[in-house]
Amino acid sequence: MFFIFPTPAAIAEHLSQHLIRLIRNNPDSKLGLATGSTMEPVYARLLQHLEKERPDLSRLTTFNLDEYIGLPASHPQSYSYYMHQHLFDPLGLDDSQINLPNGMCTNLDHECRNYSAAIAAAGGLDFQLLGIGTNGHIGFNEPGTPFDSLTHVIELSENTRLDNSRFFDNPADMPTHAITMGIKDILDAKEVVLVVTGEHKADVMNLLYRSPANPSMPASSLKLHPNARIYLDQAAASRIPAEALYHVE
Ligand code: F6R
Repeated sequence: MFFIFPTPAAIAEHLSQHLIRLIRNNPDSKLGLATGSTMEPVYARLLQHLEKERPDLSRLTTFNLDEYIGLPASHPQSYSYYMHQHLFDPLGLDDSQINLPNGMCTNLDHECRNYSAAIAAAGGLDFQLLGIGTNGHIGFNEPGTPFDSLTHVIELSENTRLDNSRFFDNPADMPTHAITMGIKDILDAKEVVLVVTGEHKADVMNLLYRSPANPSMPASSLKLHPNARIYLDQAAASRIPAEALYHVE
């Protein structure tokens, strides 16, 4: 399940080709997408491939994992803003193809129920892209989140608030809560790829390698999935035993 690549660029290249194949084979694909610094090189490379190869994207549907509560879509740190900037606007995706939890809505319970229901109504996700927090979160499913959770409101952990406040000019503006797809929503995807790059993720990868599936390490839920892969660069893989790593390229 652990695949090691020479560089983050090699991961981006491999994943872009895989996603283009997936879209060509099924233009009605439902893609689950993530944000964060790990995904920036992935989306940059994917965009280059899509612009060159021009598969039909008119029937594609996307579902993002999460959104901060209290940040409008126009806020540069909202995940809506990130996705429009890095992928949706350059691709010219129509709003009707895009799904993101609305962190500004007045009825959060309703929003959460509707979001998981919309994924199910679309026939489930064909592919889910994930990053990981240094505490093992996937989406914003913080340690302790049950594996049968659907989309829900989460109070961000101290660790996540500290990690992500680096993106805010004033760290005090970092939101305290978010809406996130649940672990069950993620595990229900037909295929899942977790991308992990950088030395600062080496400890959490070591922990993930050693952890049996249990809610204190949310990413360990992927060990229960029949088609989940973890793509690591050398730095992130540096604390996993060599015999557990499958080398790519
Ligand atoms: C973002 C998300 C998070 C991030 C994770 C890693 O949509 O769901 O789980 O993937 O926090 O973030 P980076 O890539 O910034 O280290």
